Amino acid sequence: MATIFKPDCMADRSVFLAGATSGINLGIAERFAEEGARVFVISRDAEKVARTVDTLKASGGQAAGTACDVRDYDAVDAAVKDAADQFGPLDFVLAGAAGNFPAAAIDMSANGFRTVVDIDLMGTYNVFRASHPHLRKPGASLVAITAPQAERPYVMQSHVCAAKAGVNMLVKCLALEWGPEGVRVNAISPGPIEGTEGMKRLAPTPEAEAAVKANVALRALGAPRDIADGCLYLAGDEARYVTGTILYIDGGVVLGNGRF
Ligand code: HXC
Ligand code: NAP
Repeated sequence: MATIFKPDCMADRSVFLAGATSGINLGIAERFAEEGARVFVISRDAEKVARTVDTLKASGGQAAGTACDVRDYDAVDAAVKDAADQFGPLDFVLAGAAGNFPAAAIDMSANGFRTVVDIDLMGTYNVFRASHPHLRKPGASLVAITAPQAERPYVMQSHVCAAKAGVNMLVKCLALEWGPEGVRVNAISPGPIEGTEGMKRLAPTPEAEAAVKANVALRALGAPRDIADGCLYLAGDEARYVTGTILYIDGGVVLGNGRF
């Protein structure tokens, strides 16, 4: 496939990826490893972390990781330090961990709502806050993975909509606070991505998937690589003047279906 990215465009870059042991974020880890980065991954499940590290190494990449829950600030702090000790100052940080289940607000316990806010919003804050002392300054690029739920209300998604809306605003605030140090902070908002846990949970049948597609301007699902290429762009020097933005890689789903 033709690509605008030069081979090994991430060589000598040190990257820390939270929630990168499956789905979209695993695709991001594979893409950065393919382009020569030193990749450190975290997620809760030690087996998934080990499998991911093995896969990245088997394809020729430099990789390490540790099991860590993004809700646990001290654990995130230790993991980021471990990454920087092994791989050097962090050039790129991804806050991609998320939790989602469809539930009406009235059918959720306070703990159900809090769990998603803790993983998505607090987790993003924890990863970015803990990484700050270890960032390459100037030059580091931070990316949060948000969702269309941040800007469009959906039924059965009040917890996710509230959490992801918070992620979008957090990114913009950190872009202002850390811009003077030469640290860029952005978010990517994926649309529905084929074969992912998110799609399995929100559109578990072929009929539900068809209904999702009908609300996408391009009438198609995306692939993890679409999001990974957006991360490469935001990590690269080409994006050196880009901060505080939400990059929509979503087939136009955030536009809605445009019908009265
Ligand atoms: C109502 C639910 C529920 C459900 C869990 N809870 N599932 N409430 N309906 N279907 C409640 C539980 O009862 C509990 O409250 C609280 O949530 C915490 O549940 P735990 O199972 O103890 O939480 P935990 O083990 O921390 O797991 C977190 C999780 C889980 C979010 C609940 O689903 C998870 O690990 N998800 C990670 C993977 C994932 O979700 N990937 C999809 C990301 S896609 P009580 O009161 O009983 O204690 C995405 C956007 C997709 O984010 C966009 C697509 C277009
Ligand atoms: P996924 O496969 O479930 O990926 C979630 C990742 O986060 C996994 O590696 C998971 O590993 C990790 N994780 C979950 N909770 C964690 C925690 N508390 N601490 C640390 N790691 C944790 O989901 P996905 O569908 O690819 O979604 C990935 C991202 O894209 C999410 O931010 C999601 O909101 C966003 N998104 C997805 C879609 C879509 O179509 N799928 C659309 C828009 C936005 P462990 O289980 O080992 O912890």
